[in-house]
Amino acid sequence: MDTPIVKLSDKDLESVYEPSEDSFLLIDALENDLEVLKSLRPVMCLEIGSGSGVVITALAMALRNHCQPCHLAIDINFHACEISKRTAIQNSVDLDTVQMDLLSCIRDDCIFDVIVFNPPYVVTNDDEISNGDVLFKAWAGGANGRKVMERVFLTIPNILSDLGVFYMLVIKENDPEYILRVFRSLNMIGEIVIERRIRGEHLYILRFRKAK
Ligand SMILES: C[S@@+](CC[C@H](N)C(=O)[O-])C[C@H]1O[C@@H](n2cnc3c(N)ncnc32)[C@H](O)[C@@H]1O
Repeated sequence: MDTPIVKLSDKDLESVYEPSEDSFLLIDALENDLEVLKSLRPVMCLEIGSGSGVVITALAMALRNHCQPCHLAIDINFHACEISKRTAIQNSVDLDTVQMDLLSCIRDDCIFDVIVFNPPYVVTNDDEISNGDVLFKAWAGGANGRKVMERVFLTIPNILSDLGVFYMLVIKENDPEYILRVFRSLNMIGEIVIERRIRGEHLYILRFRKAK
């Protein structure tokens, strides 16, 4: 998969998450599965918390000559929505962006074939999530670092197509095995598809599908 061009000014970086090791690990997981993803012939792809748009743009670039699905990016940060859109345009792919709190405005009859989420995962006090600073919202994950990500868990099975795939980045402190168990109770099969240790963080990509 080609890495998208992402141009962020110093001003952008004051409020938008800069593509980092976690972003690139998520792209690596998509790249490893690219042939499988192509064989799904996705119609709708979604990124929750798109930041600069680097991940959803990489996916759109990889699929553009294949099945040309619609791509939607959600972020709570309006500036991130603008930058995601700009990144997509700079890399000649289509992307719709919506400023939204997680999946709050997504109806259950919206179905996606690929969903990706690199959530705020750092363990913090819960009140740091509601800190007014948008950059805090990019990484502050509250207790166990799971306070934001777990708000989408119940909805994912409702909006994922039967053969669809959901990728989520987590760290060791989020307790990946616990998250896999939660999804198992929702009739979803999950596994760790890549892990990487970088500068004091142990990152994992979890991949989920619906159980047959
Ligand atoms: C760790 S950053 C990942 C950004 C980008 N996907 C990447 O991999 O580089 C998390 C992103 O989630 C967004 N976010 C945080 N809380 C959110 C919420 N409640 N609803 C939607 N987006 C949220 C942040 O604004 C930020 O852009």
